[in-house]
Amino acid sequence: MKNDLVKDALLGSSVFKDEASLFPEYIPPELPNRDEEVKRLARNFRALLRRDGAFSVNVAIVGNAGIGKTALAKYTMAQLKELAVNENINIDYAYYNCHSFRSKTAILRSLMADRFMIQSRGFSDEEVLEMLFRRLQNENQHLILVLDEANMLESEDILSIIHANEALGISLSTIVISRPTEWKMLLDAPLSGHIHDQINLRSYNIDQLMTILNYRARIAFMPQAYTTDLIELVAEISSHTRNARHGLEILYRTGKAADNLSKSMLDPEDIRRSKNEVYPELRPDIFYDLKEHELIAALSIARDLMDTGSTATTINSCFEQYETACAEFGVSRRKLITFRGFVDTLVNVGIVGKTTALANKGKRGRRSKITLFDIPASVLAERVEQRIKSV
Ligand SMILES: Nc1ncnc2c1ncn2[C@@H]1O[C@H](COP(=O)(O)OP(=O)(O)OP(=O)(O)O)[C@@H](O)[C@H]1O
Ligand SMILES: [Mg+2]
Repeated sequence: MKNDLVKDALLGSSVFKDEASLFPEYIPPELPNRDEEVKRLARNFRALLRRDGAFSVNVAIVGNAGIGKTALAKYTMAQLKELAVNENINIDYAYYNCHSFRSKTAILRSLMADRFMIQSRGFSDEEVLEMLFRRLQNENQHLILVLDEANMLESEDILSIIHANEALGISLSTIVISRPTEWKMLLDAPLSGHIHDQINLRSYNIDQLMTILNYRARIAFMPQAYTTDLIELVAEISSHTRNARHGLEILYRTGKAADNLSKSMLDPEDIRRSKNEVYPELRPDIFYDLKEHELIAALSIARDLMDTGSTATTINSCFEQYETACAEFGVSRRKLITFRGFVDTLVNVGIVGKTTALANKGKRGRRSKITLFDIPASVLAERVEQRIKSV
């Protein structure tokens, strides 16, 4: 009976004890193998807790994909805030993923609206910064601004916030997070002069992955649903990328496969199968940060690469796919120049790559080729289509 199907799916047995603990936004109560980094990050803010007068600090956290940069910042900040509340010190932090908030203006507006209920539309960034610092001073608050995926901003944007802080009253500290290659591009001489501490996170080795995955499996799964041998298999697979997210995503998919097939345990066959569905460089929530037209642009690039069966394509060819896709989804298409902007965003968030090759003989100038780095075109198309249909 239909009712029983739904009931079984909802209330029947599951290998999961806490499925949501494997979602990307979950921050675990502990971060094994990151004690030193937690201490180092926290120590940067000692003077704030000791009320040593006007003080602010700018810290960078740099490291490869999936090794706990975001987790380290959120974990440490949450604890720091709790401690400050207990000590009656007015310190707070604001976390921004710059894939979602892509400009200084967007971040400042959201900050003013969310914290101080002030709509700052119509004001310049400088004016908003002044308002922000006035409020922080009036409320005697120190704000730690966490800018994750900071390479989506311009170096000058970050600098202007830091400069405003120095000019208007030392009420704000920053934590800037980025992967190493992007960090090199962001870090110019003026910005580097303002970074007080750069914490470089090392990628995890297999032993560290074993500890982390065992710990996370204990939180996520029923004790009888897995064995240490199974976790070892996952740790071995993810040790090739040294990326904890890689292992966690495999565990999640394997758990879902077990539930769907009513197995009472994780199955090594499912582990081996899900290993091919996981793309460890790609944050799974990245598609949530993209706007509808950017998603359609990503889909059209994937479709174009699939249609032509080649590894690279051109903007013009993708644009034709884009026009067709817009008609398919019933949205009005934008002009080629705007489409180029969508592609640039996809390049910036790391979904597609752009290479500049010399144009064919006889034509002048250079022409960009578009490629995919981390993920096969068919998988990209499938994931983006899913996302477009759900918005
Ligand atoms: N030491 C750890 N203990 C427990 N879980 C961890 C640890 N390190 C990372 N994780 C988990 O691994 C996943 C990836 O970590 P996180 O998102 O912080 O990586 P990241 O370095 O910010 O990656 P990206 O550059 O892709 O943003 C998260 O689910 C996080 O909770
Ligand atoms: Mg991150």
